[in-house]
Amino acid sequence: MGKNVAIAGVTGAVGQEFLAILDERGFPMDSLKVLASSRSAGKTVRFRDADYTVEELTEDSFEGVDIALFSAGGARSKQFAPAAVRAGAVVVDNSSAFRMDPEVPLVVPEVNPEAIHRHKGIIANPNCTTIVANVAVWPLHKANPVRRMVVSTYQAASGAGMSAMLEMIQQAREVLDDKPVTCNVLKYQLAFNLYCHDSKIGPNGYNEEEMKMVKETRKIFGTDAIAITCTCVRVPVMRTHCESINLEFTKPIT
Ligand SMILES: NC(=O)c1ccc[n+]([C@@H]2O[C@H](COP(=O)([O-])OP(=O)(O)OC[C@H]3O[C@@H](n4cnc5c(N)ncnc54)[C@H](OP(=O)(O)O)[C@@H]3O)[C@@H](O)[C@H]2O)c1
Repeated sequence: MGKNVAIAGVTGAVGQEFLAILDERGFPMDSLKVLASSRSAGKTVRFRDADYTVEELTEDSFEGVDIALFSAGGARSKQFAPAAVRAGAVVVDNSSAFRMDPEVPLVVPEVNPEAIHRHKGIIANPNCTTIVANVAVWPLHKANPVRRMVVSTYQAASGAGMSAMLEMIQQAREVLDDKPVTCNVLKYQLAFNLYCHDSKIGPNGYNEEEMKMVKETRKIFGTDAIAITCTCVRVPVMRTHCESINLEFTKPIT
């Protein structure tokens, strides 16, 4: 039997990927509810040769839903995920809203799939850069515990959402036409440029994106014993994040 699935944030960069992957994997579904802001209500999205009408995300959106995939920003997850759980759905949340909540498992299927069984209605998935690093580092860590991890990331416009991708194209046109550059979504000019990731810089000098790598990796690996440092840079490509990871192990590598 298939699942009744809802996607909150279906019109966004991540929401569109949810649809593509559900289709690619032939995920068994009985129904699909597509949710976004009131701005998108009434628009249609296409899935498996059918059109679905986007509804506004509200607390009443989750009646009869088995699995709710959330990617509409942390504030929306905090506001609406509890309502989805009360309605009986299991929430898989892509935002940072619940990642560090000790009651919420933070899961990378290739690393700690067993953590899923501890869920109380919400399962969080980590930041994109953490996932990429953890999938590569985990098998090495199991063979020879990692003592120190030095990560540098090169992150595309897509990580800042659909509107950031569109703004980078606009910026590129503006630069080439020698016009003032629009920075409504992106913090600075990204076209033909790069800068320290646009999240807030904390008192320790690291930006929030960098600290996500540190905290989330420790939660997923279940250890505080790894020394981790990370530098996150936004680079002017549309999609595709890149990472360099330098590891120091407990025992010599043979
Ligand atoms: N884990 C990861 O790999 C990863 C990667 C990238 C992003 N993220 C996270 O995923 C979330 C979405 O990112 P994105 O890149 O897809 O952003 P995006 O392209 O800007 O899309 C945002 C989505 O949220 C919806 N939304 C915004 N305000 C809303 C509201 N008040 N009520 C209901 N829906 C609302 C938007 O609907 P409208 O179109 O109607 O505005 C849109 O569907 C963010 O929390 C982001 O940090 C995670």
